[in-house]
Amino acid sequence: MKHFPLPFRRIGILATLCSLAFLGAFAKPLTRIASPDGNLQLTFSLTTKGEPQYALSRQDTAILLPSALGMTIIADSTVNGQTIHLSNNMRLLAADTASCDTVWETVWGEEQFIRDQHTQLTVCLQHRTGIRMNIVFRLFNDGMAFRYSFPEQKKLRRFLIMDEHSAYTFASEPQAWSIPWRTEYYEALWQKAPISQKQDTLCSPLTLEFPDGSYGFLHEAALTDFPAQNLYCNGQTIHTYLTPLADGTAAHIQKSPFKGDLEGLPWRMLILTRTLPDLVASRIMLNLNEPCRIEDTSWIKPMKYIGIWWGMHLGTMTWHQSPTHGATTANMTRYMQFAAQHGFGGVLAEGWNEGWETWVNPVPKHFEYDIPYPDFDIDSITRLSYQLGVEMIGHHETGGRADEYEPQLDKAFAYAQAHNIHVVKTGYVAPIIHTVDGLQWNKSQAGVRHYRRVIETAAKYQVSIDNHEPVMPTGLQRTYPNLLTQEGVRGQEWNAWAGDGGSPAEHVTVLPFTRIMCGPVDYTPGVFNFDNPNNPNTRAHATLMNQLALFVCFYSPLQMACDLPEHYMQHPDAFTFIKQVPCDWKQSVLLDGRIGDYCVFARQDRHSDDWYVGGITDENPRELTIEFSFLEPNTTYTATIFRDAADADWKTNPYAYRIDTIHCRKGDRLTIPMASAGGFAIILHKR
Ligand code: NOJ
Repeated sequence: MKHFPLPFRRIGILATLCSLAFLGAFAKPLTRIASPDGNLQLTFSLTTKGEPQYALSRQDTAILLPSALGMTIIADSTVNGQTIHLSNNMRLLAADTASCDTVWETVWGEEQFIRDQHTQLTVCLQHRTGIRMNIVFRLFNDGMAFRYSFPEQKKLRRFLIMDEHSAYTFASEPQAWSIPWRTEYYEALWQKAPISQKQDTLCSPLTLEFPDGSYGFLHEAALTDFPAQNLYCNGQTIHTYLTPLADGTAAHIQKSPFKGDLEGLPWRMLILTRTLPDLVASRIMLNLNEPCRIEDTSWIKPMKYIGIWWGMHLGTMTWHQSPTHGATTANMTRYMQFAAQHGFGGVLAEGWNEGWETWVNPVPKHFEYDIPYPDFDIDSITRLSYQLGVEMIGHHETGGRADEYEPQLDKAFAYAQAHNIHVVKTGYVAPIIHTVDGLQWNKSQAGVRHYRRVIETAAKYQVSIDNHEPVMPTGLQRTYPNLLTQEGVRGQEWNAWAGDGGSPAEHVTVLPFTRIMCGPVDYTPGVFNFDNPNNPNTRAHATLMNQLALFVCFYSPLQMACDLPEHYMQHPDAFTFIKQVPCDWKQSVLLDGRIGDYCVFARQDRHSDDWYVGGITDENPRELTIEFSFLEPNTTYTATIFRDAADADWKTNPYAYRIDTIHCRKGDRLTIPMASAGGFAIILHKR
C-alpha cells in the first residue's frame, strides 16, 4: 500500500486542567472539537461524580445527548486485584487536540484513493485510585469515533477489562436495522424497528434511520484483540455489550503483557450522514484501521472465481467421498478448463481433503489440511493450474476446531503455497468454537485473536483468506489486504436449503446498507438456474437479471459466480456480463436507493475507463430513472443493458430478459423497469 506524506499536525495542548475539573460543582463542558468542515461538534465533559461523558451535535442540533463512557477493570496485584470502575471518580489531567488530512491508496477496494480528514481530541483521565485512562475522539465530516487506551503506568502492569460502559443517547429516536446478538454466524434477515422497541441484545452493526431523514451506522473498527461489540437498547440509549465468555460470565479480556498506549482497543464508530449515498461512501472504518503491514502486496490479487460448491448445497454432490463426491480430479479439471475459457482466476474445491465423514456429527473429527482425498490428484491439479493460469482456491473447514487448526497453520499454508494455491477459504461451522482458550463464541476475544493469527500466518505464505463464519468485519483488510473477503451473512447458500424457502427478495436490498457496510462479502451471487431438485420449494427469490446486478451491488474483491458451469451455458449471452464485470474499482457511487426497497450502484473499473451499473428491487416491481451524471463529459459511451423483459417475474418467469445496446453521454437519463425481485446490469464502455 502506497502512502502519501502524512501532514498530521499537532495543534497543541489545549488544556492541562489537573484537578480543577474533578472538584467542579456541576457538569461543565471541558473540551470541544469540530469536524474539519465544522459540521459536527463533539463535547467531552465530566459530571460532578467524575463520570466521563460526550455529546455530539450537527450544526447546533443535538444528535447525541451527554452519553456515558468508561470501562470496568480488574487491576493487577499493585492495586490488590480490585474491581475498578473507570466510569466515575475520574478527573481530567490533560486534553490535547490534533488534526489530520491525508490520502492513501488502497491495494484493492471500492476506491483507489481514500482521504482521511479528521480532528482529534485526546482526554487524559485519572481515577481516584491513581489509574490513568485516555479516551481518543476523532471527528470526521461524516461521523465520529472514539477509543480507550491505557498509558504505561506503574499501577497497571496487567489487568482484565471486565466491562465497557460506552453508550449513545440519541436526541431523537432512530429506527434501527439489526439482527439478534446470538445469531449464528450473523446469518439472519435484518429487521427494522424504533430502537426503543428492540427487546433483544443486538449484533454490531446497527444501521440507523433518523426522523429527519438522515442516516447513521454504529459499529466498531480495528478489532484485533478484544471481544466483539454487541449493543442493546434502553429507551433512546444504545449501550455496548462486550461478547462474554461462552459460559455467560463477564468478558474477561486480558490485556497482558501490557504494551502501553500503542496497544489500541477497537474504535467505537458512528457514521452520520444526511443521505444514503453519503452513508455508503463513508470510509471512516477503513481510516480507523492501521496502514498496511504487508510490505510486498503484489501477490494479493482480486479475482472472480467459480467452485465445486453449489452442487453440495443443492445436494447433488457431497463433500465426503461417495459416488457423487464433488471434488474429484475429473470434476476439478472440468471446472478449471471452464474457468480458463471464461476468464475466472480461480476454482474453489470444497471436500478436497480428508476429514469430511464426520465433520459436524456430533463432535467434528480432525480435518487434514495437507492430505487430499485419494480421488483428488493434487499434483495433476497443480500442474494444470500452472498450465491454464487458473489457481485452485483451497478450503480449510475446521468444524469449529480452531484449537486443532491453529497449530497446523504453518504446515497448512506452506502446503497451499507449494501447490500454487494463493487463496484459501476458511470455515468454522459450529456456533461455539473450540479455541486455544477453550470453548468460546467465534466473536469472543479468543475467536478474534484466532482469525487474526490465520490472516497473519497466511500472509507469510502469500495466501489470501476468504473467512467464512467470521467475526463481523471491522476494516482489518486495510492492515492485512490478504483478508480478501468474508461471509458473516445469510448468503446465497440459504437459497438452496433454507426451511423457509429462501431469503425474501427484500434481503438483498438491505445488505448493502447493513452487513456490506462492514466490508467485502462472500455472498456468492450468480444463480442461473432456479430448479432445486432436492428442495423444490426453496430457491433464490430473484430474476436472472437481479442475480447479475448483485455483482455490482455487492462488493467483494474475491467474487464468486456460484452456479454450475452447465447452468451458465444455458444463458451464454447473460453470462457475458459475469465474465466482464470486474471486482476491483477506481470509484463507487450509490446512485439511488432505499434500505429494504431497492438500490442502484455505479462503479468504475480500476484498470480501464469502463463503468458498471447494477440495480435491484425487492418484491415490488418498479421503474427507476438513472442519470449518467458520473460519466466523463463530452464522451460517448456504448451502454450494454441487461434487463428484465416485460413479462419477467421471479416466481413465474425468472429467465425472461433482454439485452439492448444504446449510446449515452454524461447527464443523459435512462428509465428502466424492474420485475418483482428483478434488476438490471449495465456495461458502459467509451466509444
Ligand atoms: C458453510 C459455508 O458458508 C459454506 O460456504 C461451506 O460450503 C460450508 N460451510 C462447508 O464448509
